[in-house]
Amino acid sequence: MLLKIYQEQVEQNHIQHDPAQLQVLQHLQNLQDNLLEHLQYEEKSQLQKLFSPAPNEIKSVYIHGDVGRGKSMLMDLFYEACPVEQKRRVHFHAFMLEVHEFVHQWRKQKSEGDMILSLAEKIRASTLLLCFDEFHVTDIADAMILGRLFTQLFASGLVVVITSNRHPNNLYLGGLQRDLFVPFINLLLEVCITVDLVAKEDYRLKHLHELKTRYYFPIDTQADAFIQNSYDELTAFAAKEPGKICVKGREITLAAVHGDVALSSFSELCEQPLGSADYLELANEFTTIIITDIPKLSVAKRNEAKRFSTLIDALYEHKVKLICTVEVAPQELYMQGDGSFEFERTVSRLIEMQSESYILGRHIVD
Ligand SMILES: Nc1ncnc2c1ncn2[C@@H]1O[C@H](COP(=O)(O)OP(=O)(O)OP(=O)(O)O)[C@@H](O)[C@H]1O
Ligand SMILES: [Mg+2]
Repeated sequence: MLLKIYQEQVEQNHIQHDPAQLQVLQHLQNLQDNLLEHLQYEEKSQLQKLFSPAPNEIKSVYIHGDVGRGKSMLMDLFYEACPVEQKRRVHFHAFMLEVHEFVHQWRKQKSEGDMILSLAEKIRASTLLLCFDEFHVTDIADAMILGRLFTQLFASGLVVVITSNRHPNNLYLGGLQRDLFVPFINLLLEVCITVDLVAKEDYRLKHLHELKTRYYFPIDTQADAFIQNSYDELTAFAAKEPGKICVKGREITLAAVHGDVALSSFSELCEQPLGSADYLELANEFTTIIITDIPKLSVAKRNEAKRFSTLIDALYEHKVKLICTVEVAPQELYMQGDGSFEFERTVSRLIEMQSESYILGRHIVD
């Protein structure tokens, strides 16, 4: 039972009781019950079906609300608990990358038939329940694809849980040829129960404020404890499970990922041959990144320094919150060597990223 899991977390002081969240959870519980009812019904023989009442219609759930209110947390709680095998949780951005890749391959191979229908069939073959985090539409091509794709997917029985900062009526607002997108909005409103999560506060901000610092230096015996506490605070004590992100067919492994929080070390991020595309992907997928063990960079570490600058630029431009443990103060990170002049921008950004106004900024997703 979802309410019970929530209650346990409250009792363990991992989260605060919030009636608005409970309301959303009730909708998710109903969805779970309906899904199971359907699956059980489907397993019956034709004869048994004849004598059983048809299960209730399944309503997908669309959760919208301001940042940090717990939409993703509730979705995760539901996702973990939901005993449906064919389930998938995906970040909207990653999903669109997959869609683009499919379209690319389709065109390259000059395949015949209806591309969107084939894509829908491919998705539906492995997924009954799709949990979609951070749904948003900014691009005309995406708007058109999404409309057609989800019309097919819903028709084939796919069920979704969506989180978004916008009510369906406000999706793709002011976008080019928006009238072509409106039928999709109406479809969303039809298949989903739309809930506005008006939680008590921006919990992400609250947790960030509760950290002693966000730029921890020097690296002393307490540094590991600082990282653990920060991770606990930001993920409601989630287990540290490694995560992956995919960039152009390459996989990047991160030490721990939970929802929109990632934990990784300097060496994982800046001592590997990663580049701008990888860092942009990170910045799009995560609202908060914890980077451990950033060393003072010597002249010989110019490549690492360059990568670190590119990483910080990507995080900064997307207003990703940064928590880190570092050997030295920002000004002492990279003082001499190739590009040390340009590195001053990185220093300045690192400092600004600690400021209250930066922390208050909204995560920007491409
Ligand atoms: N009731 C709560 N008590 C304490 N912490 C909470 C509570 N609900 C959520 N949090 C924490 O607040 C942070 C933000 O929650 P979450 O990521 O779910 O927000 P969101 O609504 O998805 O935000 P966004 O719109 O930016 O994606 C997370 O670290 C989450 O664990
Ligand atoms: Mg979220």
